[in-house]
Amino acid sequence: MKHFLNIIDLSNDELLGLLSEAARLKEAHSRRIPAHSLTGRVVALIFEKPSLRTRVSFESGIAQLTGTSLYLPGNEVGLGWRETLADFSRTISQYVDMLVLRVYRHETLDGLAQHSTIPIINALSDWSHPCQGLADVLTVRELFGTETGRTVVFVGDGNNVARSLAVACGKLGMKFVLACPMGYGFDDKFKEQYRQRVDANFPVEVNDPHAAVSHADVIYTDVWTSMGQEAEREERLKRFAPFQVNARLMARAPSHCKVLHCLPAHRGEEITDDVMDGPACAAFQQAGNRLHTQKAVMEWLLK
Ligand code: CP
Ligand code: NVA
Repeated sequence: MKHFLNIIDLSNDELLGLLSEAARLKEAHSRRIPAHSLTGRVVALIFEKPSLRTRVSFESGIAQLTGTSLYLPGNEVGLGWRETLADFSRTISQYVDMLVLRVYRHETLDGLAQHSTIPIINALSDWSHPCQGLADVLTVRELFGTETGRTVVFVGDGNNVARSLAVACGKLGMKFVLACPMGYGFDDKFKEQYRQRVDANFPVEVNDPHAAVSHADVIYTDVWTSMGQEAEREERLKRFAPFQVNARLMARAPSHCKVLHCLPAHRGEEITDDVMDGPACAAFQQAGNRLHTQKAVMEWLLK
């Protein structure tokens, strides 16, 4: 059974195929060409955490492909505590054609996937955010014509979004640099997995954001405290303060440099209003691309 749990599981050809299908779907959607690739299919969305972009872009994407979506709050189905993941998986596999899941623990996805006879899409876990990574690289491609050879400087911690994007960049011939406070870089498990499974140099990690952005084509940032890390918020606010994406940091970047953010943004923390609303920011184009890349993923999984 094919799933979409991590970008690292995709071959380079599969990744390139998803990007070109997403671009095709985007173009077709802009011309309002009807699509029917999910006709008669039911997709269940189960979210343990809040969402705007992911939930709405999946539900709209499913409707645009004439499928049916079913939203189930995580606390209603009680993944792993109301019944075992195996029992849940065996049951729901008979009712719907695909599952889209946003979970606290990535292990929940692995546990479900083990027993699932339908494809599962990771809509964000504590480990990765592959749907985001795919939309991110499509946006880079649109902004520069090609993603190959471009440098993305991620200013933030080595979190779920950074891991997925780092792998996507490695697979597509892009350079990924992580600028983070000491102690907030990529974990050992990720380093090992990357070295074993990605045919590219491991991303460079630096602790000086101002020096890091001097060769950036893209500056990328995300919230300093991810969902589930709320207890660390006060400490993180202090540690990440010098890593804000603001006018002073932008002044160190090349003039063509673009700014991406997976959103939601905490304006005034990781990014200032002037940068978010300024000409370099492409975060809303990026958010729009979630719709098209996810449609490509659903079609690919059901093929
Ligand atoms: N970027 C992203 O996944 O946004 P949501 O949390 O709103 O889905
Ligand atoms: N790193 C963030 C991404 C939100 C889309 C989080 O996990 O909360």
